Amino acid sequence: MSNDKQVDSGRRVLLAATCAAGGVAGLATAGAFVSTFQPSERAKAAGAPVEVDIAGMAPGELKTVEWRGKPVWILKRSPEMVSALPKLDDQLADPKSQRNPDELTPEYARNEYRSIKPDILVAVGICTHLGCSPTTKLQPGPQPSLPDDWQGGFLCPCHGSTFDMAGRVYKNKPAPDNLQVPRHMYAGDTKLVIGKDEKGEA
Ligand code: FES
Repeated sequence: MSNDKQVDSGRRVLLAATCAAGGVAGLATAGAFVSTFQPSERAKAAGAPVEVDIAGMAPGELKTVEWRGKPVWILKRSPEMVSALPKLDDQLADPKSQRNPDELTPEYARNEYRSIKPDILVAVGICTHLGCSPTTKLQPGPQPSLPDDWQGGFLCPCHGSTFDMAGRVYKNKPAPDNLQVPRHMYAGDTKLVIGKDEKGEA
């Protein structure tokens, strides 16, 4: 292993530990450290936009890609999934994605589907409560921990928050907000770019 690689992985471990510990002392340490930090090509690439080919995704299929260390879901919604979304509005905490729109929902996704194309959802798979990763519960109908009229979506098992197929949080759940839709764009019919849109990189 080259020196560069050793240093790079050591730094990543330190930064990860700082994130986990949080707090002022941790941040001060990170600040001192970062001031001499020259990011390697690999580190730069870790923050770069991610291109995903979505050709051939079947209706109901979910792909997970990593962007900036976070899981990003790409869900190809079936026509039934798409048509169920507008009917759920009165059960949701923020059906029109009006809360924290700058942080959570780019302008082009402030619609019922929270997406550019109605059938393709792009969302960060991290719960807005305490950051667990929700599990997919795409199948509608009664099942453990979910209401009998479940329409399909996501369940965060940590404290029971539920989200619909557009990542919109149901009312009266611990999670305060909808899942984040990251900035994204299409660079062709089936090529999705995550972490970048017409305004530039996220
Ligand atoms: S972290 Fe998801 S419900 Fe608490």
